[in-house]
Amino acid sequence: AQLHTIAKQKGKLYFGTATDNPELTDTPYTAILDDNQMFGQITAANSMKWDATEPSRGTFTFQAGDVIANLAKANGQLLRGHNCVWHNQLPSWVTAGQFSKTDLLSIVQTHCSTLVGHYKGQVSYCRSQVSWDVLNEIMNDDGTFAQDVFFDTTGTDYIATALRAARAADPNARLYMNDFNIEGPGAKSTAYQNLIRTLQSEGVPIDGIGMQSHFIVGELPPNIQQNIEAFTALGVEVAITELDVRMTLPSTPALLAQQQKDYQTVIEACNAVPKCIGVTLWDFTDKFSWVPGAFAGQGAACPWDENLQQKPAFSGIVSGFGA
Ligand code: G3I
Repeated sequence: AQLHTIAKQKGKLYFGTATDNPELTDTPYTAILDDNQMFGQITAANSMKWDATEPSRGTFTFQAGDVIANLAKANGQLLRGHNCVWHNQLPSWVTAGQFSKTDLLSIVQTHCSTLVGHYKGQVSYCRSQVSWDVLNEIMNDDGTFAQDVFFDTTGTDYIATALRAARAADPNARLYMNDFNIEGPGAKSTAYQNLIRTLQSEGVPIDGIGMQSHFIVGELPPNIQQNIEAFTALGVEVAITELDVRMTLPSTPALLAQQQKDYQTVIEACNAVPKCIGVTLWDFTDKFSWVPGAFAGQGAACPWDENLQQKPAFSGIVSGFGA
């Protein structure tokens, strides 16, 4: 079974995966990554972030990001841009207390317009030329705004600045806000829905919401489909942008079986909503997952194991699409 082929048959735009530059020398890995019927879309896990693309003010470096964009083009895959504005992986020159509000808004404007402009029209085989996570993780779980350098200096003004800069730089790009813990209903989802309404009422461009979907085995939030629909009812599209389902190691047959169910549940929810446009894994193999590096003792979060063999989770994805 090939996941992109199945997703397309069900009316989705793509099924995709994140990847990262150091992984591209692994030939067995790239043999799977480059199969555009398995993955019709890729996201750069790190190389389009601010520290990678504007390491000093006004100096832009796109070499590593271009490797990912060129790979998508060569493979006939869609590209998701990740990301314009995030409080992590910032270069050290973007520091609280260094800039006035006017200065920082200008810095955000320059960064977003240069980054999005650089990748304008890079992948163009279908209507959504490229989607951008313009704003990443701007809220806390209680629905308040993250107290980062951008919020502390500009209030919420950087949000509209970033979105407008991205729209002007590539009018065809789909512009997203992307976050975790917004897959189910709750304070954070409600706050994003309110923010979308505010942006729309102010004429600020917003096209989609990215549900990262970094889950724990057996602990999916209830009512994912209902929550996706609460967003699409506002007129924005939804994408599952960073799906993985981690467990406390070692993995056991019981955990792998629950993980299969969890993958199936997420895919079923997206599959049921036409404006949930696609699903991206946050890399497809446990060999390169971010999880063990971030959560000691946890891992095995992906549908392929460390030896690039498909796990029960893979079948869960296929079943989730009803295939
Ligand atoms: O580049 C340095 C390298 O020079 C150094 O030798 C090495 C030593 O640890 O670190 C390398 O940097 C690492 C970087 O990935 C590139 O591999 C960082 O330590 C590491 O923290 C960083 O992790 C990334 C993480 O974002 C950082 O926040 C993960 O790869 C990446 O998958 C992860 O992705 C995020 C999304 O962007 C947003 N949503 C959550 C998701 C998971 O955290």
